[in-house]
Amino acid sequence: STVITVNPAALTFSAVPKNLDDIVTVPAGYSVTVLTRLGDPIDAATPDYVNDGSDANFATRIGDHGDALYYFGLDAGGSRDDNSSVRGLLVQNHENLNEQYLHPAGPTNVSDGPRPAAEALKEIEAHGLSVVEVQDTTGARDWEYVQNSAFNRRITPMTPMAINGPVRGSAMLATQYSTNGTDGRGTINNCANGYAAWGTLLTCEENWAGYFRRDDDGPGSDNANRTARELTALRRYGVRSSTGNYAWSSAEPSQDIFRRWDARATGASATDDYRNEMNQFGWVVEIDPYDPASTPRKRTALGRMGHEGAWLGKLVSGQKVAVYMGDDSRREYMYKFVSDAAWDPADAHRTDRLAVGDKYLDSGTLYVARFNADGSGTWLPLVFGSVPNRPAVGSEPEYVFADQADILVNTRLAADAVGATPMDRPEWTALNPVTGEIYLTLTNNNASNRPIDGTDAANPRHYVEPRGSGTTTGNPNGHILRLREGGDNSAATSFLWDIYLFGADSIDAGASVNISGLDADNDFSSPDGLWFSREQNPAGQINPLLWIQTDDGAFTDRTNNQMLAALPGFVGDGEAKTITNVAADTSTAQQATFAGQPATSANLKRFLTGPLECEITGVDTTPDGRTLFVGIQHPGENGDPANITSNWPQSQEGNATGRPRSGVVVVTKDTGGVVGL
Ligand code: FEO
Ligand code: CA
Ligand code: CA
Ligand code: CA
Repeated sequence: STVITVNPAALTFSAVPKNLDDIVTVPAGYSVTVLTRLGDPIDAATPDYVNDGSDANFATRIGDHGDALYYFGLDAGGSRDDNSSVRGLLVQNHENLNEQYLHPAGPTNVSDGPRPAAEALKEIEAHGLSVVEVQDTTGARDWEYVQNSAFNRRITPMTPMAINGPVRGSAMLATQYSTNGTDGRGTINNCANGYAAWGTLLTCEENWAGYFRRDDDGPGSDNANRTARELTALRRYGVRSSTGNYAWSSAEPSQDIFRRWDARATGASATDDYRNEMNQFGWVVEIDPYDPASTPRKRTALGRMGHEGAWLGKLVSGQKVAVYMGDDSRREYMYKFVSDAAWDPADAHRTDRLAVGDKYLDSGTLYVARFNADGSGTWLPLVFGSVPNRPAVGSEPEYVFADQADILVNTRLAADAVGATPMDRPEWTALNPVTGEIYLTLTNNNASNRPIDGTDAANPRHYVEPRGSGTTTGNPNGHILRLREGGDNSAATSFLWDIYLFGADSIDAGASVNISGLDADNDFSSPDGLWFSREQNPAGQINPLLWIQTDDGAFTDRTNNQMLAALPGFVGDGEAKTITNVAADTSTAQQATFAGQPATSANLKRFLTGPLECEITGVDTTPDGRTLFVGIQHPGENGDPANITSNWPQSQEGNATGRPRSGVVVVTKDTGGVVGL
């Protein structure tokens, strides 16, 4: 295999110690400032955020739970400039809410309704995405967001969207809003993202299922009005809440912006009620941040699931375009979409960016991954005619696919049918832009979802958590897998893979625990966000930095969530794979045989820790690598207005009072150099 030179050979910054401080901590020689926060106004007319629960107008404020982000460069004249490191658009997902801090004394009747309409509207509009202009005001990395920029935009669960690709016009997408199934309203639970080289963002709808009311049983159930096929699909996707996450459908049911979250089949047909409303969600959505008037397009060819992220593979002229995707739930799968069209580098510079997206993202083949025990893998096509019926499960009958649209709406069922490998919660994918290798975070799993005899080569760990109650079993600290396509071709149907890294607390000993040899400077748990630094960053750096972000429940007694920098090797750099009996899972030596190169403080180091009760998610840099943007999501999420548990970001600026707010920080090196090197 190809040997990759690691240059630089070692990380030289001083590791940030594990800590429980209520601020963002970065290494000596680095500085951190807050760039944007929940509620910041993004037009001239919206007042400053008071942060006492009284603020409204979230359609013109930055939303809650900032997740993945990406920086799109602008030149001085306001045109797209991929090389600009002084002015750009920061596009960020707003995944979910700390609803307790959005209202003066917390939400009213949030568990079962009736919800006050003003509260529900605020919560709905705090979801989606924000597009916000940012600029270096002095040329010395003094970043501010531009409140009155004409580029600023909120995309919310009410923004008009087009349904594109094979599912467009399907009866499964027929709604009161769009009786012919060609249009949709909004996007929700946007988690990770993807960047398309033609200058657009892919945003991914993850845990959409929970927002809808559809009683699976009992008095409110619509089971009698559903076919057996529909019930199988609904249960597979987990649409079974008797209220929906925030009971939005209970607020003014006469208004369809609220009523639409009640997905029960109560009318005579799909266009008389909101039974198909949920089918508008669970997609990858393409957005053109440079055109505030553009209508986002839902790319149904990429399948419908709990989409975590959608990262493009390496673009090679004449090869097809591949998109790698995780479906984040326990025992879900990893997917790849391959375009029909071959990549034409001239398309990167077209100004009809969403039309370029049509070319590469509306027609192609969706595959799901099977990881074999010998270190090989197979991409299994999800194509109507070749996908077998999904076998009966328990009392649910066999599911017979009707057409390709059915396979794309019910992608999980199709993946079940072809024998894909269930994984330990697939989160972000990342591309090593030099090698073309794809990395995938598998954040964790537990015993109830994957019993001890459910291990396999790609999900090999099952052990008793050594600390705490001792009852947490499974793979509580997660791992990171990586793969290399056959022939380095995006359209390959086979690949090689290995496990790059296993999470662990370095003080824990025992079989299958600290397999990668982590130490106090780099131990971590539950990897989630994952991103390689930009290819052009910087000259001479052959093997780019990998940034790893955590979203953890098993390690937060010891440290707040964190971000690490890594200089990884390549698939196959660890020991030979000699997996013989992974199910037994009793031998550390056996597990270690398929670990990647052991971690050292030279190739993996903790770069940043967050404030209390936050998740670190969302990372990008300017093209020159000298400004790092990092998302701080839901600090103080376990508190409430009467018991505030974090004061971030105020605490970052020396004022440890007030309600916590999600935000984005800027990290720079005091010498002005490339961050992380
Ligand atoms: Fe939204 Fe799977 O994290
Ligand atoms: Ca995530
Ligand atoms: Ca997560
Ligand atoms: Ca989260």
